[in-house]
Amino acid sequence: MCGIVGIVSGLPVEDRLFTALRRLEYRGYDSAGIASIEDGAIVRRRAEGKLINLGRVLAEHPLNGTTGIAHTRWATHGAPTTSNAHPHATGEVAVVHNGIIENFKVLRDELMARGRHFESETDTEVVAHLISELVEDGVSPVDAVRQTLPRLRGAFALAIMFRRQPDMLIGARQGSPLVLGFGENEAYLGSDALALAPLTRRISYLEEGDWVVLTRAGAQVHDVANQQVTRAVVDSGVSSDTADKGNHPHFMHKEIHEQPVVVAQTLRSYLRRLEGTISLPIPEFDLAGVKRVTIVACGTSYYAGMIARYWIEQFAEIPVDIDFASEFRYREPRMENGGLALFISQSGETADTLAALRHARGEGQKIAVVVNVPSSTMAREADLLLPTNAGPEIGVASTKAFTCQLAVLAAFATNLAFANGRMNAADVRHVVRHLAEAPAALNAALGYEDEIRTVAQSLAEARDVLFLGRGADYPLAMEGALKLKEITYIHAEGYAAGEMKHGPIALIDEDVPVVVIAPSGPLFEKTVSNLHEVQARGGRIILISDYDGIEAAGAGCHATITMPKVHPLIAPLVNAVPIQLLAYHTALVKGTDVDQPRNLAKSVTVE
Ligand code: M6R
Repeated sequence: MCGIVGIVSGLPVEDRLFTALRRLEYRGYDSAGIASIEDGAIVRRRAEGKLINLGRVLAEHPLNGTTGIAHTRWATHGAPTTSNAHPHATGEVAVVHNGIIENFKVLRDELMARGRHFESETDTEVVAHLISELVEDGVSPVDAVRQTLPRLRGAFALAIMFRRQPDMLIGARQGSPLVLGFGENEAYLGSDALALAPLTRRISYLEEGDWVVLTRAGAQVHDVANQQVTRAVVDSGVSSDTADKGNHPHFMHKEIHEQPVVVAQTLRSYLRRLEGTISLPIPEFDLAGVKRVTIVACGTSYYAGMIARYWIEQFAEIPVDIDFASEFRYREPRMENGGLALFISQSGETADTLAALRHARGEGQKIAVVVNVPSSTMAREADLLLPTNAGPEIGVASTKAFTCQLAVLAAFATNLAFANGRMNAADVRHVVRHLAEAPAALNAALGYEDEIRTVAQSLAEARDVLFLGRGADYPLAMEGALKLKEITYIHAEGYAAGEMKHGPIALIDEDVPVVVIAPSGPLFEKTVSNLHEVQARGGRIILISDYDGIEAAGAGCHATITMPKVHPLIAPLVNAVPIQLLAYHTALVKGTDVDQPRNLAKSVTVE
């Protein structure tokens, strides 16, 4: 998390740094700050809270420097206060940082023992002091950075500015993303291509361990062994248009409503509707040889992966393992040759997922990545890139990325089954026909928003909420609980409906609403039995099903939400809509910040 940006220019940089920060605010909004060099001194402007607060400070005290660095923070070490806001600086050096310096305590003690004074509680400030100490002793900025980087443990993307060399910045990358940008007589550093898009589309991606000296004339890149290297300059392909909310009150609302269009857009890259076939972006990728699939992801992407496990096991009859990236990477599982490791990520930058990907690569796995940001690190490290064409997702709560992931994963599972001879051409045609119906069904689901808004009124009063489902609706139940937790701050749990009687049913009383996701299908009767068990204990049921399901089981429920009747394959996509809208409208009743909920950030680039 945290977004960093730097500009070396002959013209004032404040406005452009601020614009870039706006495009990085999805990475964190605990505080923000900018530093530049004016009249031979490092000058900083910082403010706690959202970027708008920094905007107010800059309006009163503008910066005129022509080289600068800037930061938007997701707090890891130290409270979200102004004194902990980046840039961190000494008289000689200013630093912005995304990542965690794991050995900062040792370094801080060492620096303090030598008389250095710290003004923040952050891990980052040690970087400023280590470099500054050397520069103050007459070491050149480049050598000071070269000597300091090997002392840092953990993850970092850094942009470093020097008082005595106002026409230069140094950047460094280890474990956190950093890109270079090139303009007319100026150069840039940024956490992603999106931040730099209004400045340039000519960018280079730094590799792990790279560090770079940036001047107006361009960039000199060094690898981890300090050898000068060349990194390709490519077109980022990212538009400079700022995402806007259109007629919607929040990005999340807009993104929920975009789902019919973006799912159709995503499916267009995979389905050959007329032929009734599915093709992946790399048709020559050998899926027939895949003997085992390991799915790894975090958060909402993990729940998409759990749903995909049902599909892969059922269609392709191939064993599937699944794990949270944060657990997988430290289990260090041994993986047999011939396996495919499948990583799912909206951002393509989630630190745990990326580390897990690299572990799987080390274990000889082929790497498939379902990702929404085509320029992301994961996309670049994939053998088989499976893009979701959801467009930029700005709301912290993932919505349209999830349904697009499901669309891609359904297509992938089908292709895997076909390649392994478990499905024939007629089976594939059948799947294609149903997947092609998903956008219209999503559209129909959105038509029930008023009904869902009414249900949300009662949910907003609850302290705890349970979500239940079976089969693919079990991960969906967990996704529903996650959505509710993250934007309404109501405690919620997603459970496998059949597990209730093994413990959680003790929680049931009239104050705990229970959202049951039970579309018609092979598991309907079983889920309804569990629903009755809850009802018999006074539980308040909110039933999400199709017309037939509501007819069969709606009696005695506190509320029902009717969804269009669809094939079980696309039911998880369609039923994602009511759980997203329930969370959204409950948040509106509670008055929480829908797009930027407390304590969260969109892209989790620290472990
Ligand atoms: O970018 P990723 O898909 O890798 O992100 C994974 C999670 O951080 C993300 O899905 C998170 O759980 C969302 N805020 C959920 O809405």
